[in-house]
Amino acid sequence: MFKVLLVFSLIARGVYAGLAPQPLAYNVAPLADIAGIQGSNADSRMFYQRADGSIWQTCVSGHWTNGRTTCDNRIVPANEVLYGTPLAAVATPNLTEWHLFFLSPTYTLSEYIYQQTSISTTNPSGVRGGTSCTDCITSEQFVVVGPRSRALSALYQVQNDEPKLRVWFVSAGQPNTVMEAGKQGNQWTNVSLPDLRVN
Ligand SMILES: *[C@@H]1O[C@H](CO)[C@@H](O)[C@H](O)[C@H]1NC(C)=O
Ligand SMILES: *[C@@H]1O[C@H](CO)[C@@H](O)[C@H](O)[C@H]1NC(C)=O
Repeated sequence: MFKVLLVFSLIARGVYAGLAPQPLAYNVAPLADIAGIQGSNADSRMFYQRADGSIWQTCVSGHWTNGRTTCDNRIVPANEVLYGTPLAAVATPNLTEWHLFFLSPTYTLSEYIYQQTSISTTNPSGVRGGTSCTDCITSEQFVVVGPRSRALSALYQVQNDEPKLRVWFVSAGQPNTVMEAGKQGNQWTNVSLPDLRVN
């Protein structure tokens, strides 16, 4: 009898915890994506959109129950982000560099970059993005098909000291296929998914 009651009370508490909003929780945009990156030392970052539209980064080491949150900062101001945006994030294994992709209110594919060390005057250290970021994908003006496309994915690899970024999305100009934008050095190129049926 005791066991049955205990199980029941655990279920009841679980259900209650699922329904009741946490009083101290952040107010997030519920339909936006969440993007995570993890370094080889298990340090991780999570990107999420708050209810005001801004994108935030939280730094967490380990699982949330035992882990330690070491940062929670705003990366992208609300006026640069589509509400309920898809998100994609990629990083180097040591987390010294990451790239965050999202959509602007006009469905323009947008990027913010973090670099721990300065690479050149156009690639300074810290977080950069917005219209002043000349090597961000934002400046390419790739427009994603609207208004409800969730298709957004990215890969990042450093091969022989050469960083390679790939971003997949569905472009407004060619809504019947997948577009790949690739960056090698500072140069972005884009190509649509080859149709293997014609070969
Ligand atoms: C971090 O990793 C990148 C490549 O993945 C490498 O180029 C860089 O030197 C590393 N930085 C540190 C501080 O280890
Ligand atoms: C690359 O993107 C531009 C701008 O969106 C577009 O006009 C062009 O058709 C794309 N290239 C290919 C090969 O699809």
